[in-house]
Amino acid sequence: MIHSSIEIAPSILAANFASLGEEVRAAERGGAGLLHVDVMDGHFVPNISIGVPVVAALRKTTHLPLDVHLMIEHPDRYIGAFADAGADMISVHQEAAPHLERVLASIRERGLRAGVALNPATPVSTLSEVLAAVDFVLVMSVNPGFGGQKFLAGSLVKLRQLAELRARNGWRYRIEIDGGIGPENAAEVVQAGAEILVAGTAVFGAPDAADAIRNLKNISRGALAQKV
Ligand code: DX5
Ligand code: ZN
Repeated sequence: MIHSSIEIAPSILAANFASLGEEVRAAERGGAGLLHVDVMDGHFVPNISIGVPVVAALRKTTHLPLDVHLMIEHPDRYIGAFADAGADMISVHQEAAPHLERVLASIRERGLRAGVALNPATPVSTLSEVLAAVDFVLVMSVNPGFGGQKFLAGSLVKLRQLAELRARNGWRYRIEIDGGIGPENAAEVVQAGAEILVAGTAVFGAPDAADAIRNLKNISRGALAQKV
């Protein structure tokens, strides 16, 4: 079946920005499937992180797909810039995009994978009109803005809903979970339907980032094997 693999997406928000290249090498060594890049504007979320030049620099240093999570207002204005910088996947927040269908279509028209992200307080039902045409759905399991926060268990219900809706309607999106993910809850989120696990602190805050990724992969594979 198509949705049977799990990928770990280390979030570079928790990496040492002064040696980002080495951090990326560690992610590659550990078998990361993607690199998750958190873009924050100080408006949609109460924090400012990184932007287009860092995505362009990452593109030059790795072949890993770049998964750009836009936590910004007016995401439609920046799709072209992030696409040109080398993003492979872009997610925009449902809460930040009144013309959600249009912005998702503009991502796909550029040949990228288009995703929609949901804050903890936003229900899956708000996506009913776009789910048929998205490549992935990112479920936030913390309120976006900061790394190192505690996992909110309400997200498990959303993962199950998304997996169920997909099966019932024959849709194809992948399900990503982001926030507070680590060895203690990786099995649980995979059982609930997550296929891309974003992990910042649990990877780059660990003594060895590559080992931390391997560990998360092993746990996730075990959980998936039990599920099928
Ligand atoms: C939070 C970001 C997350 C964050 C995850 O706003 O979207 O991607 O980097 O970090 P951890 O894994 O530390 O919760
Ligand atoms: Zn993120």
